[in-house]
Amino acid sequence: MQALVTEDMARVNETILARMHSPVALIPQLAGHLIASGGKRLRPMLTLAGARLIGYEGTRHTKLAACVEFIHTATLLHDDVVDDSDLRRGKDSANVLWGNKPSVLVGDFLFSRAFELMVEDGSLKVLRLLSHASSVIAEGEVLQLSISNDLETPEESYLQVIEAKTAALFEAATQIAAVVGERPENEEVALASFGRNFGIAFQLVDDALDYSAHQATLGKSVGDDFREGKITLPVILAYRRGSEDERDFWKRTIEDMDQKDGDLGHALALMDKHGAITDTIERARHYGAIARDALAIFQDSKTRQLLNDIVRFCVERAY
Ligand code: IPE
Ligand code: IPE
Ligand code: MG
Ligand code: MG
Repeated sequence: MQALVTEDMARVNETILARMHSPVALIPQLAGHLIASGGKRLRPMLTLAGARLIGYEGTRHTKLAACVEFIHTATLLHDDVVDDSDLRRGKDSANVLWGNKPSVLVGDFLFSRAFELMVEDGSLKVLRLLSHASSVIAEGEVLQLSISNDLETPEESYLQVIEAKTAALFEAATQIAAVVGERPENEEVALASFGRNFGIAFQLVDDALDYSAHQATLGKSVGDDFREGKITLPVILAYRRGSEDERDFWKRTIEDMDQKDGDLGHALALMDKHGAITDTIERARHYGAIARDALAIFQDSKTRQLLNDIVRFCVERAY
C-alpha cells in the first residue's frame, strides 16, 4: 500500500512540513518533533487509497490527506497530556519534553491549521465531514474520561467511545475520497463504512496491544491503560468473567487505583486465563470483516485488494 501511494504521500508530507510552520519557534519545534518521529500515516494513506480506488485524477486529495493527519497529530498531542503518556512513536512524548501547556496549545494550532487547509480546499461538504469528526473525537475523549475507573461499564459504552475517538476520523478520511471524486452516494457510504469499521477494529487491536505488546515494537509504553485505570475491552471482559477474588483485584487496581509492582503482570495473567485479549482480537476481526465486505461494491482492483490486506494486517499485527 505504501508503494502504491508513494508519490501522493510525498506530497502529503511536503504539505505537512510546509504548513506546520509558524514564526513562533516553539510551534514547529514541538510539532516537528512528533511529526519527524514517524507514525504510520495510516489515515492519510486511507484518503489517498480511497481516491485511487474510485479513480480520482485530480490533486485535491493530497492536501486533504495532510489535513486528516494534522487532525490526528493534534489529537495525539492532547491525548498524551490527558493519558499522561511519556512515550509516543518510540520517542519521549512532547508533554515530557516541553510540558503539558505547550502540548495542548500546539495541538490547538494543528487543529486550526487543519481547518485552514479545509477552507483552502473550498468544499463545504468536506468541511462538514471533518469538522463533525473533530467534535465527535472530542466527545469520545470526554465520554472515555467520564467512564474511567468504572468496571461496570457495559461493552456498548466502550464501543461508543472507540467509535467516537478513533473510528470517526477513519470514516471521514475514507469518505472524503468519494466526496472529492464526486462519486455516487452508494460509493460514499461504502467508503465511509469501510473506514468506520476499520477504525473500530484498529482501536480494539490497539487496546489489546496496550497489554500484550512489547514496548520496542509498539513505540508506546505497554501498560499505560492499566496504570491509568482506563476501561478498555480486555479489562471489561476479564472483570466480567472473573471470580469474586479476581474482581476484588480489579476493584483495587482500576477503581481505587491502588497498584503495586507485579499487578500489571497479574492483570495479564487474568486476561490470559479468561481469553480477554484473544476475544478482543476476535471482535476486531469481526469489524475488520465488515470493513472488507463494505468494499464489495467496487470492482476488483489492486487498490481494493491492498485495502483489504491493510485491514487484515492491522488485525493480525496483534500477534
Ligand atoms: C494512535 O494511532 C492512536 C490510536 C487511535 C490508537 P496510530 O497508531 O495510527 O498512531 P501513529 O500515527 O501511527 O503514531
Ligand atoms: C487514541 O486513544 C485516540 C485519540 C488519539 C483520539 P488512546 O489513548 O487509546 O491511544 P494511544 O494508545 O495513546 O495511542
Ligand atoms: Mg493515549
Ligand atoms: Mg487516550
